[in-house]
Amino acid sequence: MNIILLGPPGAGKGTQAKRLEESRGLVQLSTGDMLRAEVQSGSPLGKEAKAVMEAGQLVSDELVIGIIANRIDQPDCKNGFILDGFPRTVAQAEALDAMLSDKGMQLHAVIEMEVDDAALTERITGRYTCAKCGQGYHDSFQKPATDGTCDKCGSTEFKRRADDNAETVTSRLAAYHDQTAPILPYYRDKGMLKKVDGMAEIDEVTRQIEGALG
Ligand code: AP5
Ligand code: MG
Repeated sequence: MNIILLGPPGAGKGTQAKRLEESRGLVQLSTGDMLRAEVQSGSPLGKEAKAVMEAGQLVSDELVIGIIANRIDQPDCKNGFILDGFPRTVAQAEALDAMLSDKGMQLHAVIEMEVDDAALTERITGRYTCAKCGQGYHDSFQKPATDGTCDKCGSTEFKRRADDNAETVTSRLAAYHDQTAPILPYYRDKGMLKKVDGMAEIDEVTRQIEGALG
C-alpha cells in the first residue's frame, strides 16, 4: 500500500507515519527528513536547501522530485511507503503520478490531516526529537515516560529543528495555504482524498487513519 499523508506543518504527519511504519510495515518517506540529512552532511544539495528551509519556504520542485524518484527505487519501498511532506505543489503531484505509472506502482489513498492554524504554532514550537533514533516528542502533548529519556532507545540527547520558531512557522503556513492546499482538489477529483480530524488526540488520529485505510 502506498499512501500520502497531507497536512500543514505540525499537523502530525511524521508522528502518524512512524506509527504506520510499525503497524503496517510501510516505509516513511519524509522529504523534510531527507533534506535535513543533506543539510547536516553539508552536501551541495544541502547547501542549496538550507537557507530556503530556514526561511520557511519550499525548496525547488526539481530538487525534491529528484530525491523522491531515487528513493522509491530502493528495494525497501517495494512493500509500500508513506509519503510525508511530498507532494507539496501541483507540479510535484503531477510528477509523482508520472513516476509511479512509469514504475508500474499505484497510489492507494491520500489522507488529509485537518488542523487549525492556531494549534499548529503551539505544536511546532513545543516539538523535539530524540537525537539518536528520531522519535518525536512535545513539551506538553507527548512527553517521554521518564523525563529526559527516550522511550524508544533510552538516549538522553534530544534536538530541536532550526525552522521550529514562531517567525518561520508563519512563512511555512503561508507556503502551505498558497502552494500545497491547491493539491487537495487534485486528489479529490480523482476520488482519493480521505479526511481525518488532525485536532483530535494522537491515538484517535491513528484510529481514524487506520479506519480510512481499511
Ligand atoms: P517538513 O519536515 O515536511 O515539515 P512540515 O511540513 O512543516 O511538517 P512538520 O514536520 O513540521 O510537521 P508534521 O506534520 O510532521 O508534525 P509532527 O508529527 O512532527 O519540511 C520542512 C521544510 O523542508 C519545508 O518548510 C521546506 O522548506 C522543505 N521541504 C520538505 N518537503 C518539501 C517538498 N516536498 N517540496 C519543497 N520543500 C520541501 O507533529 C508536530 C508536533 O505536534 C510534535 O511535537 C508532536 O508530538 C505533536 N503532535 C502530533 N500530533 C498531535 C496531536 N494529534 N495532538 C497534539 N500534539 C500532536
Ligand atoms: Mg514532519
